[in-house]
Amino acid sequence: MPQRFYVTTPIYYVNDKPHIGHTYTTVLADVLARFHRMLGEEVYFLTGTDEHGQKIEKTAAARGITPQQLADEVVPNFEALWKRMGLTHDDFIRTTQERHKTVIRERFQQLLGTGDIFKATYKGLYSVSDEAYVTETQAKELQAQGLGHQLVELEEESYFFRLSAYENWLIQLYDRHPEFVRPEFRLNEVRQFVAPEGQRGNLQDLSISRTSITWGIPVPGDPKHVVYVWFDALLNYLSALGEEHKEFWPPTVQIVGKDILRFHAVYWPAFLMAMFRREDEPLDGPFPERLRPLLPGTILAHGWWLMGESKMSKSLGNIVRPEQLLRFGNDAARFFLLRDMQIGHDRSFSFEGFMERLNADLANGLGNLAARSISMIKKYRGGNVPTPPVPMDRPSIGINPVAGHPSRARGSALVAILQDFRANQFDGGLDLLWEILRDMDRQIVKTQPWKLAKEEAQNPEAAAELDRLLEQLWQTLRVAAALLAPIMPELSQQLWSGLGLPGQASDQRLDELDWDFPPPGPVGDPGPLFARIDKEAEMAEMEADAAPGAPAPPDLDVPPLREPVDYDTFARTDLRVGKVLEAERVPKSDKLIKMKVDLGFELRTVVGGIGKAYAPEDLLGRLVVVVANLAPRKLMGIESHGMLLAASDNAGLPYLVAPPADARPGFIVK
Ligand code: MSP
Repeated sequence: MPQRFYVTTPIYYVNDKPHIGHTYTTVLADVLARFHRMLGEEVYFLTGTDEHGQKIEKTAAARGITPQQLADEVVPNFEALWKRMGLTHDDFIRTTQERHKTVIRERFQQLLGTGDIFKATYKGLYSVSDEAYVTETQAKELQAQGLGHQLVELEEESYFFRLSAYENWLIQLYDRHPEFVRPEFRLNEVRQFVAPEGQRGNLQDLSISRTSITWGIPVPGDPKHVVYVWFDALLNYLSALGEEHKEFWPPTVQIVGKDILRFHAVYWPAFLMAMFRREDEPLDGPFPERLRPLLPGTILAHGWWLMGESKMSKSLGNIVRPEQLLRFGNDAARFFLLRDMQIGHDRSFSFEGFMERLNADLANGLGNLAARSISMIKKYRGGNVPTPPVPMDRPSIGINPVAGHPSRARGSALVAILQDFRANQFDGGLDLLWEILRDMDRQIVKTQPWKLAKEEAQNPEAAAELDRLLEQLWQTLRVAAALLAPIMPELSQQLWSGLGLPGQASDQRLDELDWDFPPPGPVGDPGPLFARIDKEAEMAEMEADAAPGAPAPPDLDVPPLREPVDYDTFARTDLRVGKVLEAERVPKSDKLIKMKVDLGFELRTVVGGIGKAYAPEDLLGRLVVVVANLAPRKLMGIESHGMLLAASDNAGLPYLVAPPADARPGFIVK
């Protein structure tokens, strides 16, 4: 029976359009799915959207629509993008679908029955921005970070999952099965969270219901509470399979970003242990190995794409959108994302780097080698791939494809590449493959086929050598086309057919691939595989695109300077950095926006006349400068406690003054 391979992506929040982060995770899952299909495995690939919770409720409120409307508006963006990119997912789950909600209700009830979920009164601190209860120690840590986490005292009824009871089994899971989290240094982070410095008794029970919001799945029998969004979201991986595909359980690889690793490596296995546990298996005893095959194989945690050194964020306006990557084609974007990111680590993105990579590896490297090789086979052998009696050395032996990879020097190149791919290290595998391609270029230079072609009429040895070179080039390109099929499905097929090979590159079994394959017939014409990008021209065009049809700013009509004031007068104005947490339009006004601004020490309601230049959702998370000691003033019935500083053009349109990204709410501006 073929091995099963179930791969998942995180399900994406529907409060944003897809960006490079979503694209990366989903492409990585697609590459894994295609790769494992080419190993003869039976693959199931799941993605979807996470539609409940406070974030969605807030964004929808700021836009004046219902959360369901927001979800229904955003989901097609994801679906259309994945379709445009030719992704091969088997299912797309939405947490608002009935099939999902049913499972959440059933599982919630099941765990109520086993005592893993219980109702209690919580009394303590709650972090509003993290949507989580916090201990005294955590509260101190949050405050020390100074990131403006708003903490409130809370006393409320909540349902809890008894996470603390699973600490013992979780630690044993990490110790005995370190493959549960990859890469290894990410597992260490998880260990540190669960048992810092090896200390036990650190995990707190987890509140898994909310009464503060309504946008969620009501707790069965107690609809005042809705199920906490992470209990809801994580179970999508289970609910999506339903009865029909349940044989795929458990997920083989679950791809997550480092920011959501804790949810997947701590809460998620604990929920599953609770669901699959037998009563006779004591939680303070040894972890029952029986459970291991019911838990996810590997949680694969990747790092982030950064802009320079900083995080991409809406408020910084530095988010890379998939459309910007796709301008050179799906395959180019896929190749770049896989080639340049070392899984687990962060990587900074630049458009120059992106284009340089494509030029170097696709236009020059692979494209050039393929064009040269095929044209030589045509020129010197009438298009027929020669089959010399003594084939030339294969990359595993003769040439040294492993320069720079001393640890791999003993393995054959093909085995090493497949090993890297199986270990989800696509950057490493691709690096090796390109080392082989570069070596082929060097072989051409060394062998000088044009000379051999002149000599071969008189010298049979020259003819044989030319045969061997041409055959080796052809075999190498064939192997490359097959290996690249999961990563660049279109381009590899173009190469495959261009080499005169029948059928689909993606139908090949990668575990049966070798360097010797009888050429089936004459080579074809792959055409140029990848056209060289004119980097300068593209950069210029991108800059122009960034401001589509923007009218030239009007010449500024500089107003005269006001009367001088002395420093003391100026210094009486208390200017502070603030962060906009909520924003909504004031009804019946196209100009006024009501905001909740975090000033580091308190939350303020500020009403600003910026509605013609900014939409409420553009303001969320933005750092602003607030005149903090301005006397309160009523605007359309709402009391405003402060004013945002903004520059202004001739037409009076405001341009909000933005403190640098590393400023914090509460900082004084002077
Ligand atoms: N809804 C949750 C996941 C629930 S899974 C049961 C969520 N959604 S998200 O839309 O905010 O993020 C989805 C993924 O995108 C995360 O894995 C996150 O790490 C990833 N990325 C977001 N920004 C990123 C980059 N700049 N770079 C790479 N991936 C990043 O979290």
